Amino acid sequence: MANQRGAFIVFEGLDRSGKSTQVGALVARLQREGRKVRLQKFPDRTTRIGGMIDAYLQSKSELDDHSIHLLFSANRWECANAIERDVSSGTIVIADRYAFSGIAFSAAKGLSFQYCLNPDTGLPLPDRTVYLTLSPEVAASRGAYGEERYETLEMQKRVREQFTLVAEETRRRHGDDRWAEINADGTVEEVEALIWENIQPVIMEPLQCLGKLWT
Ligand code: TMP
Ligand code: MG
Repeated sequence: MANQRGAFIVFEGLDRSGKSTQVGALVARLQREGRKVRLQKFPDRTTRIGGMIDAYLQSKSELDDHSIHLLFSANRWECANAIERDVSSGTIVIADRYAFSGIAFSAAKGLSFQYCLNPDTGLPLPDRTVYLTLSPEVAASRGAYGEERYETLEMQKRVREQFTLVAEETRRRHGDDRWAEINADGTVEEVEALIWENIQPVIMEPLQCLGKLWT
């Protein structure tokens, strides 16, 4: 269909939920199906703002919690036009994390939920956000976290609690269809199949213009 727009699909989840593996598999599958697709990772560490975020995550710099929160948001804003442009010209943009991580991680550090939500207001609204959940047992069996800031069991537990609130807020503001939870305890192939089934309606049906987040 010549004039069909693409779609904007976001993946969220705790560290080690298998998110990046699944995003990679989905992008490859869409390409095999002949769809135009682009992967957008957040944080996008390739920009100047992304470089500051990268240094912070690797503990090479210290920043006030508010400052780093706003940098994560600014990093999304500098990519917003490209997302809108690509989706309106028929590309499926798949994001590995987005504003939902922004709220969950900063609120887990103690910033207020509303403060965390505000700077992302008006960003492109994902057509669907797929949140990969992992039982604590399976998470533990996947071994130690990496070296980056936030990759501790205690922090991830707090982030998980905040994601529950983010899910509620998203459904309340934008409707149940916008947020899907998929159990990522299974094998890579099993989870891949669940995701594929879940996103079919989003990539098959003609859609309205992209909405605006939190408006
Ligand atoms: P990554 O491991 O997916 O590259 O993400 C880096 C870390 O940054 C991860 O622990 C989640 C965190 N994060 C935030 O704190 N705020 C944000 O807005 C985003 C996108 C990620
Ligand atoms: Mg990480």
